[in-house]
Amino acid sequence: MTSRFSLHHGDCAAILATLPQGSVDLVVTDPPYVCRYRDRSGRAVANDNHADWIAPAFREIHRVMKPDTLCVSFYGWQHVERFMLAWKAAGFTPVGHLVWPKDYTSRRGFLAARHEQAFLLAKGHPPRPAVALPDVQPWAYTGNTHHPTEKAESVIRPLIDAFSRRGDLVLDPFTGSGTTGLACARLDRRFLGIELDETHYRTASCRIGEAYRRADVTHLRAAGSL
Ligand SMILES: C[S@@+](CC[C@H](N)C(=O)[O-])C[C@H]1O[C@@H](n2cnc3c(N)ncnc32)[C@H](O)[C@@H]1O
Repeated sequence: MTSRFSLHHGDCAAILATLPQGSVDLVVTDPPYVCRYRDRSGRAVANDNHADWIAPAFREIHRVMKPDTLCVSFYGWQHVERFMLAWKAAGFTPVGHLVWPKDYTSRRGFLAARHEQAFLLAKGHPPRPAVALPDVQPWAYTGNTHHPTEKAESVIRPLIDAFSRRGDLVLDPFTGSGTTGLACARLDRRFLGIELDETHYRTASCRIGEAYRRADVTHLRAAGSL
């Protein structure tokens, strides 16, 4: 049952180039924001200091997606034009924008930063969900114990729930500590992840493996087999 997920270590553009086109049902991803992020203990994010990876990565992401499917991508507002140019050049159409208001300040500049953001991007003409997900979503803070910019599973889960079905293959090419994979395990989706940093790759492998084992036990219990 654990073959319901696979995780690759390396650069996502290079690894996706080896995968067949039109094989992924949904992409939910949280790439580097290109904001030279550093937390209080000095932890940084790979590729967060330049934008050269954006266009090749999203070209491959678009290629491996099935026709008429969706991609949710968080992004850094500082370089919104680089993200948008790359998305449009790859063939995506923006069809929505999501915001997560925070009840704390994560960065102070001209403004006290209190939100996260993501675009909903379409390949082709995906069907609209029967119930539209509100584009302002509840945020939860993780404490960043597994990763310097770790997202909460509760933030990712509604996206997967809204835009995919049980058994679908969900891709996160910037897996980090594996949050998208945890949500996929819980929602009975298959998961394909890629992570460049070896430490995060190992963290994600452990967390996602454990989440699918737990989900398997839950399903077997529900079926009366345990
Ligand atoms: C913002 S973090 C994702 C955090 C994740 N959402 C979580 O909850 O842990 C982005 C991740 O992308 C990885 N990354 C950067 N460039 C990459 C590339 N070209 N291919 C694959 N992963 C990459 C970084 O190492 C980092 O872990």
